[in-house]
Amino acid sequence: MKILLLNGVNLNTLGSREPVLYGTTTLGDIEQRFAEKAAALGVETLAYQTNLEGELVNFIHQQAPAADGIIINAAAWTHYSIAVRDALGAVAKPFVEVHISNVYAREAFRHHSVLSDKAVGMITGLGWRGYLAALEALVGMLREQPAQGA
Ligand code: DQA
Repeated sequence: MKILLLNGVNLNTLGSREPVLYGTTTLGDIEQRFAEKAAALGVETLAYQTNLEGELVNFIHQQAPAADGIIINAAAWTHYSIAVRDALGAVAKPFVEVHISNVYAREAFRHHSVLSDKAVGMITGLGWRGYLAALEALVGMLREQPAQGA
């Protein structure tokens, strides 16, 4: 089983960016912890971050067909990117939406996601741990599904 870990715009600055909201854990730390958890679960992972929307769309097109599921923090794109939504729709892989901060405790424009109605589920406000919780849940759900054609 293979799971993609996708992080969007500005998340390369985790660790120094608004630590009251996002903590001091870097994206490198998160990717490492995610990879360790994936290895413990016996799952292959591929992590990617970009600040360019079209690059994320291209990555989804190129990599998602060979993956079983996606964990995505689309960051600000969550709130308005129909392009990211459509890319996820085009590859039709189950995905979990993650936010480090609690978006519902923040500005009203962060309360709406253009992704979440298509997501398996959404985790918000659990900090870096949300990525690991999402991974565990998605792998568990995928393993429960009967094999295609069975
Ligand atoms: C975020 C929340 C978004 O509203 C914001 O634009 C981000 C990060 C989070 O992880 O809490 O960049 O997705």
